[in-house]
Amino acid sequence: MKRKFICYIFAGILFTKANADPIYLDYQATTPVDPRVLESMLPYFTKEFGNPHSTTHVYGTRAHEAVEQARAQVASVINADPQEIIFTSGATEADNIAILGVSRALKSQGKSEVISVATEHKAVLEPFKVLEQEGFKVTLLPVQKNGIINISDLEKALSSKTALVSVMAVNNEIGVLQPIREIAKLAHKHGAFFHTDAAQGFGKIPLDVTKDDIDLLSISGHKIYGPKGVGALFIKKGTPVIPLVYGGGQERKIRPGTVPTPLCVGLGKAAQVAEQERISESKRLLALRNKLLNTLQKNLRGVLVNGDLEKRLPGNLNLSFAGVDSAPLLSNLKGIAVSASSACSSDSLEVSYVIQAIDHERTIPPAIIRLSLGRLTTETDIDKATDEIIRVVNDLREKNPTGGGRACKVEDIEKIKEGLLKNK
Ligand SMILES: Cc1ncc(COP(=O)(O)O)c(C=O)c1O
Repeated sequence: MKRKFICYIFAGILFTKANADPIYLDYQATTPVDPRVLESMLPYFTKEFGNPHSTTHVYGTRAHEAVEQARAQVASVINADPQEIIFTSGATEADNIAILGVSRALKSQGKSEVISVATEHKAVLEPFKVLEQEGFKVTLLPVQKNGIINISDLEKALSSKTALVSVMAVNNEIGVLQPIREIAKLAHKHGAFFHTDAAQGFGKIPLDVTKDDIDLLSISGHKIYGPKGVGALFIKKGTPVIPLVYGGGQERKIRPGTVPTPLCVGLGKAAQVAEQERISESKRLLALRNKLLNTLQKNLRGVLVNGDLEKRLPGNLNLSFAGVDSAPLLSNLKGIAVSASSACSSDSLEVSYVIQAIDHERTIPPAIIRLSLGRLTTETDIDKATDEIIRVVNDLREKNPTGGGRACKVEDIEKIKEGLLKNK
């Protein structure tokens, strides 16, 4: 009853602006702040404004206690010690501290090699480029056609010189889950540290830094109904990290600067709520996603799921549509807010590097959308979204039977599916 009431307020806040707004199906891009999170943050903007590092008076001690409670809430989700959590501005900063900080700390010990994956977020790929410029040997592992790495590729790339292996827990575009426990074990066998960008997994899939053997794990507030501009990095005790920024001694001398109390409190609360509701919410989202996919596949030919359907975040679907071109598909889907996996740059169509990495034979139809479902998605939303996609795709196919652009033929989709299933 209480949850229902909270959902109504939540939906009310989000949808009072305009009824005509498209249905939001882009929860992997960002999420609205949960009202319970907002409520927890509000006192720390005004009444409880103390500096959490000035603990000689009650203003400071109360803010300090709130930050420490938030640290414990974040730690509890991944079974970490609160002292192993540092607050950052988001997952991008956490990724940079982990990747650059650990690799640079180990270089003097002759560890000059680092490994990651071609389908990582730019927040990981860009610091790896910096390491390459600094003389590190960088290996970016390929993925199989299902978007998941082949463990034997990692085994081949590892050596006694490997400083760090960084592999994301959940892909932001195709939602696939990497086998991080297996990867961590293998990295440790070769004396390397293991980092995972869990921006899309934290609070959504089970993560346990002890059981999964993780040394560093990145978190983002705005992917879990918390505020933007805050995140966290788990750093296992004893992991060497050279800071990127210098200043006061805050955040274990790794990330100086006054921590933003309201944002930390919001992240803590968001983490707590996400964990409390994780199992029931995952089941609900999976049922909605299955309904969405089944209805589409029943009513439309030529629909392809990109990435492994089983080892996948419950709320993610990444779909290609044969027989239509990318640009008209996106511009006609006015009733739903989704992400594209391809973009038109002047005349040419560029498919995202994640899709390119799984599309070994260059057969995946480039009319691609990412649908990501979340806490406010209802069955009615799914029904409306499905109707809209079916209508738009049918209209486009009718208007232009050859599809146009790089659209492949609808009849070819079964062959493409077969190809994607073969040797993964
Ligand atoms: C996998 C992944 N890593 C990192 C980030 C960056 O997170 P933030 O916006 O908190 O810096 C994102 C956000 O899109 C993401 O999806």
